[in-house]
Amino acid sequence: MVSKKTMLANLLLAFVSVNTVLDYGESSYSGISNYHANIRRMASVKASFISRNGVPPISHSFSTTPVLTGSRVYHATDYGADPSGKLDSTDALEQAISDAFRSQVEGHLIQGVADLGGAQLHLDGGTFKISRPLRLPKIRGGNFMILCGSLTASPDFPTDRHLIELLPSSSSFSYEDVTLKDLMIDSNFRGGGIAIVNSLRTIIDNCYISHFVTNGILIQGGHETYVRNTFIGQHINAGGDRREKDFSGIGINIKSNDNAVTDVVIFSASIGILIQGQANMLTGIHCYNKATGWGGTGIYIQAPGFTQTRIANSYFDFTGIVAEDPVQLHITGSFFLGNAFVLLKSLKGVAFGINIVDNMFSGDYTGVPTVQLDQSNSPFTKIEQVVVDRNNARGMVLKSTVARGSIWRNGTTWTVDFSRALLFPNLIKHVQYTLHAGASFPRHILRNASGNRVTVETELPTSATLHVAVDQSTVGYT
Ligand SMILES: *[C@@H]1O[C@H](CO)[C@@H](O)[C@H](O)[C@H]1NC(C)=O
Ligand SMILES: *[C@@H]1O[C@H](CO)[C@@H](O)[C@H](O)[C@H]1NC(C)=O
Repeated sequence: MVSKKTMLANLLLAFVSVNTVLDYGESSYSGISNYHANIRRMASVKASFISRNGVPPISHSFSTTPVLTGSRVYHATDYGADPSGKLDSTDALEQAISDAFRSQVEGHLIQGVADLGGAQLHLDGGTFKISRPLRLPKIRGGNFMILCGSLTASPDFPTDRHLIELLPSSSSFSYEDVTLKDLMIDSNFRGGGIAIVNSLRTIIDNCYISHFVTNGILIQGGHETYVRNTFIGQHINAGGDRREKDFSGIGINIKSNDNAVTDVVIFSASIGILIQGQANMLTGIHCYNKATGWGGTGIYIQAPGFTQTRIANSYFDFTGIVAEDPVQLHITGSFFLGNAFVLLKSLKGVAFGINIVDNMFSGDYTGVPTVQLDQSNSPFTKIEQVVVDRNNARGMVLKSTVARGSIWRNGTTWTVDFSRALLFPNLIKHVQYTLHAGASFPRHILRNASGNRVTVETELPTSATLHVAVDQSTVGYT
């Protein structure tokens, strides 16, 4: 019986000899098929070997063409790019990317998209000036990364483009699993930072994007672009900047579905995040991009009629949220500072499936409501399943779709006025009341519930306390 040690040694030898065969016989078809057979045999030997040691067998198919002889890390400086940022490095970086896109393996990406085996364009901490967008080649590919350095737009960079562009030439998905990470992107007030168009499963991680005039990040079409741990601002500041009223551009412009933005700060832009797609998720966002008072918006949801946006655990710092005709919108666990509020804007009067719950609002006691309506186009008429509740406010007027109140009187009518608390004017869909009348036993009736005021009447004068609970949304059967 062969010892484990000898087996491992044989295995290593086998790998070496296969590589040797391939180095010389790569073009020969029989060589390749031999290689497959060998690999399969070794994979099963290796799997059984591993399982005997109590580790579950790894099942994976091996690469076929071409076999890696060197590293898949393509260093910008190896291509003559200038890491001091003085000379234009566009050509060099393009060449490096183009070479990386030739390192394909037999992959597991979506049909037609070649697996680049984890190839990287490594910037090695350099700063590179570019005069054209870095575009990925026309080859459809993925499992690729650009990382670790700075990119700056030259003074003649086109103003309508982005420094890095995943911009397929066809309408089909061309890129999948591309990671842009540990990058400083300086658009130099020429164009935007990063554009991800029609791409699948893209990651933007730990980037700092500044000096854009259009978008910090544009996400258009495609699926599942995940932006995380990233700082985005047109002008570099830490709040209270004297240029704030002139801040322009959009931090993240999402015209796409199924994306996530997590742990991201937007510190200057006219709109922090603009959403024009569905089923996007935002968590841990800190917006102080431009105060509402200067015309700024933290998150603008412009997907009327179908939103499906979830915003959680975020921080709205003097700038709030605007949602047009929201259908399925969830805002929770967030903190609104400096009179920041949520504005529901009616286009065709639709407000359906909205939860604004468990948030905190803080203001300056000038009477700003926490949730507001813009009905200048049309009043909200289709209001269903809207829950604004369980929020708290300090120095602002707390608005809600659910309210409770009580009043004591000695007489025949009791009225609780909810107009200051309720979000929608003149809307009470559900009332529940009880009349607490001590020892007496009065006959009573709900007389009126219009104008967000609830009136209860007794037949005879009575000393009693009226307790009322009202709800503006339809819950259960109607
Ligand atoms: C309520 O009003 C009636 C008649 O005005 C009076 O007789 C009665 O004492 C009052 N009750 C209380 C608890 O104030
Ligand atoms: C109900 O209250 C509204 C104002 O809140 C009033 O205009 C209306 O006349 C009242 N209806 C009745 C039946 O008292």
